[in-house]
Amino acid sequence: MLTVEQMKDLRGKKVYVRVDFNVPQKDGVIRDDNRIRAALPTLKFLADAGARLLVMSHLGKIKWKEPDAEKIEAMKKANNLECAAKRLGELIDHPVKFCPENRGEALAEAVAGLKDGEILVAQNTRYQKGEEKNDPELAKEWASLVDAFVMDAFGSAHRAHASTVGVPEVLKKEGKQVALGYLMIKEVENLSRCVEPKEGDHPYVAILGGFKVSDKIKVIDSLLEKCDKVLIGGAMTYTFKKALGMPVGNSPVEEDMLDYARACLEKAKGRLILPIDAVITNSFEPVAGREIKVVATDVTKGGSIPDGYEGCDVGPATRELYAKEIASAKLLFWNGPVGVFEQDEFQAGTKAVCEAIKALGGKAFTVCGGGDSASAVKQFGYKDIFSHVSTGGGASLEMIENDGHLPGVDVLR
Ligand code: 3PG
Repeated sequence: MLTVEQMKDLRGKKVYVRVDFNVPQKDGVIRDDNRIRAALPTLKFLADAGARLLVMSHLGKIKWKEPDAEKIEAMKKANNLECAAKRLGELIDHPVKFCPENRGEALAEAVAGLKDGEILVAQNTRYQKGEEKNDPELAKEWASLVDAFVMDAFGSAHRAHASTVGVPEVLKKEGKQVALGYLMIKEVENLSRCVEPKEGDHPYVAILGGFKVSDKIKVIDSLLEKCDKVLIGGAMTYTFKKALGMPVGNSPVEEDMLDYARACLEKAKGRLILPIDAVITNSFEPVAGREIKVVATDVTKGGSIPDGYEGCDVGPATRELYAKEIASAKLLFWNGPVGVFEQDEFQAGTKAVCEAIKALGGKAFTVCGGGDSASAVKQFGYKDIFSHVSTGGGASLEMIENDGHLPGVDVLR
């Protein structure tokens, strides 16, 4: 695969760069600009080389199935990419313009007007209905505006959309250069190690949190093939616990996943580790008079969660158990906080996982697989203890599930 560094004759060339500027924002105020910063090395390299950049990204979701046109307009308004263009302009030493359109004459003129080293950010790709369907006409139109393509949107590389896969497909057929950006290279290299551990990478320990077992089926199966231990946390714990016959009170359970959970535990032969205690509450919402306590949830010792209570974090015994497992790791992959870390009362489990990883020092290769775990790690000040913190939650999981394959990478091969 061609890398951005290997691209030739960039001066004066129009280069389409797909980035992932899907940043948390409200009313244009960005809460975390990490994804914009992560794209800077590629954008800077291309602009310094004199290329003229058309930068494209999605932001948020536009539900095109919505029959009410006014609601679609409201979704568009809430996901205007102009804020990201503005932030990029503050972070990079090259002129950055924003085009409020992402198709038609206005965009074509704006691209044609670019000078060497200038950057044009076009409006949110999802403003086009055809984007998520990988509409060939849309991909052709975008491809017709440029001479080359660079993929630097790791967080979106699991989406086979017009802006991620359609455009490079067209350009490749025309014999144009299509390349991987610096962020993509870094992400793919680091996550590949979790897909295919090297010799000496065992014990390989994974920590998997999250709400639903159904969202994680493929990744659990895949991790069980690669890992020595998979530590479970988060709300999906309770589906496994119920599958083992434990009363789980009001904790969330996916009834239709109970058979899968049982089969999974059987197949794992002791390598899928469940929490042995939980921090429970009688009210998820922090209301006055709310009760919070710790109960044992070790099924072999008759653990249970009483009616009217739900589990919101792993308890102290689990924190200790997981810390011991983590201490043995040579390779570690973590996706999903183990508790409701957004609430102070349920942060201890996720913080304990961070501390245990910190205690590994440089003795293991540690990867935080994006999404909520990356937010938690950042919020608690542990970002620097990892060998790699991914910018893509969904993409890193899919890369592990699909043995290293992602549509946005495969198309460049
Ligand atoms: C993400 O935030 O995971 C990526 O930007 C992909 O967004 P999506 O799940 O809306 O496709």
